[in-house]
Amino acid sequence: MGFCYLSFLIILVVMRKWFPEKFLWGAATSSHQVEGNNFFNDWWKWEQEGKTQSSGAACDHYHRFREDFLLAKELKHNAHRLSLEWSRLEKEENVWDESEWDHYKTVLDELSKLRITPIVTLNHFTVPLWLAKKGSWLNEECVNIFVRFAQKTIKELGSKVQYWITLNEPNILAFLAYYYGEWPPYHKNFGEALTVMKHMIKSHAKSYHLMHEYARKNSDIICPKIGMAKAVTAFHPCRAFSVSDQTSVLCRKWLHNHGAVSSLINGRILIPGIKPEKLYAKKTLDFIGLNYYFRQFIRRDKLFSKHFLGEVCSLDHHPDAGKITDMGWEIYPKGLYELIRSFSRYKLPLMITENGIATEDDSLRQTFIKQHLDQLSRAMEEGSPVIGYLHWSLLDNFEWAEGYTKRFGLVHVDHKTQKRTVKPSARYYASIIQNLTRKTTS
Ligand code: GAL
Repeated sequence: MGFCYLSFLIILVVMRKWFPEKFLWGAATSSHQVEGNNFFNDWWKWEQEGKTQSSGAACDHYHRFREDFLLAKELKHNAHRLSLEWSRLEKEENVWDESEWDHYKTVLDELSKLRITPIVTLNHFTVPLWLAKKGSWLNEECVNIFVRFAQKTIKELGSKVQYWITLNEPNILAFLAYYYGEWPPYHKNFGEALTVMKHMIKSHAKSYHLMHEYARKNSDIICPKIGMAKAVTAFHPCRAFSVSDQTSVLCRKWLHNHGAVSSLINGRILIPGIKPEKLYAKKTLDFIGLNYYFRQFIRRDKLFSKHFLGEVCSLDHHPDAGKITDMGWEIYPKGLYELIRSFSRYKLPLMITENGIATEDDSLRQTFIKQHLDQLSRAMEEGSPVIGYLHWSLLDNFEWAEGYTKRFGLVHVDHKTQKRTVKPSARYYASIIQNLTRKTTS
């Protein structure tokens, strides 16, 4: 009781605004990071080859989803972002595993029973092994293969889901896996990264049209709201008055933050090598998902060098740098405000589809949540159409190349015993949801 009253008072002082009654509050997860034993996807294979730590049983969420959703409910979440594991549903090319579709139907029914709104991602980085063998997103065939998956998905699950995210962070996958060589398949080719982006944008656009068309023709299907979860970064010049740094910042804002989203709205050519008018990409977003984590300082020494994106400065010596998370990312809450305001120009609903912190220090997580929600409410107060906030993540999970070394969860998971322990920051987040959501619309 004491904790509740105190936290309510703190929250009222910290936050500037009430949130609307229908605001979506919750956490985000992805199948490969929580389910466990996803034997049939590309990441699993690379893990077994020793390229990264093995995800193994992950959080065993595939079996423990009921327990996990009960925790989310206890923590006052009214929304939950999850992803479908494509490699479970289509283990062999064009052969659907109906028992796995039933699994996801049960998962969605469970959320519905708890009155938690699902936000479902069709693809969160992993692809079935058979598709990886065909070249994954580098192969143009992947577009129609993904569209076929989207069609089956809306048919099977469309009566249970309204909010869909076709793809998670296409730019991160394209660049980390095909340009920087940090993720499998570890390629280092700028042209390949652009090809992957192109195929992903095309897959989104075609799926968008098809899913809407299917819903129009079938009265049992909920009219879908389809978006994409876009990784966004707060870019600032390393030296405030440097023209060359400023120019690279603009290039990055364009290429990394706005390019793909703008293509999907305006259908105009925005990324080198991509012709959106041929991709049927115009007006193919019903909302914009933003995944925001950190700021980067950008520096470019020569204005006319070919490295138009410049370089990311080390945070160590930057006078303005804030605290650094276990991922080496700078905590910069105002970046959330800056990005929301900048994406408000598209006049579409915005959903914060990921925002979180890897840390062993849970009081830092609590401060992170408080400061980011403060910036979020500030942006909303200025008119930004934000409809939800999904913290990354519900559980401590498998963090891709970092394996189990980083903890992003609101709920601690002991990966040996699978025991869940709610962290104080999760209770703090719950008290914000409970105390700052308006019961009646203003
Ligand atoms: C995002 C990604 C998530 C999660 C998070 C934290 O880029 O969508 O899967 O890993 O970063 O690193």
